[in-house]
Amino acid sequence: MRRKIVAGNWKMNLSWEEAKTLLLGINRFANIHKRDCKVIICPPFVYLDRANDIFIGHASVGAQNISEYDNGAYTGEISGEILNSIGVHYTIVGHSERRQYFGETNEQVGRKVDKAIERNIKAIICCGETLEDRNAGRQKHVVKEQLTAALRNVNKEAMERQIIAYEPVWAVGTGQTASPAQAQEMHAFIRNEVLEPIFGAEVADNSSIIYGGSVKPGNAEDLFVQPDIDGALVGGASLSLEDFNSIIHAAQRL
Ligand code: PGA
Repeated sequence: MRRKIVAGNWKMNLSWEEAKTLLLGINRFANIHKRDCKVIICPPFVYLDRANDIFIGHASVGAQNISEYDNGAYTGEISGEILNSIGVHYTIVGHSERRQYFGETNEQVGRKVDKAIERNIKAIICCGETLEDRNAGRQKHVVKEQLTAALRNVNKEAMERQIIAYEPVWAVGTGQTASPAQAQEMHAFIRNEVLEPIFGAEVADNSSIIYGGSVKPGNAEDLFVQPDIDGALVGGASLSLEDFNSIIHAAQRL
């Protein structure tokens, strides 16, 4: 049985004071850990350790990125070993903003996934097409290429611990969400035509595929009722306690 997952991607936002207030609020939100919905918060790197202290037993923290390298002379990078050493067990990999603004390639994303798996860190592997790709009808091709590269060294057993996030670039941070039907079509494609040929039907069926791109309290439930949408990666709305809690509620109700 695959799990519902609601992950918050804070990106480069919030002072520590603001972050603490939000973390305490999420932590107070009772029962998260008792229900069948995993909550993961991905704050800026420097808050991970303190966030972990606040979160014990309720939700998990995740990084927003992981280095493709092992430790060493890589100024400004954070390795899987470093994350692991402070008890971080999740990381986002290949977010569209990393691909767009920092030039991350499919191959780099693949190496980052490898490093996460080596350190027992579950990767939230992002994929998604640009508006140009979609207008040209290339969305499935692009997503398949991204995921094939990201998963090239992942075996069946490791795949059971990874999370796929489908985030159409044109919907990220734009207020424009994919319609539930558009999202469902891509999620079904990922499950049946990307994951199943590589890992087999059982692993594909057990894989959590979450949607990201302007998820809000007003559209979360319509997305979550789709059979292949297993939760959300939430950007903007994860910065509001009220909005984020209501998205978690929507996932728990289903
Ligand atoms: P958004 O961001 O919800 O603000 O569109 C989603 C994401 O970037 O993961």
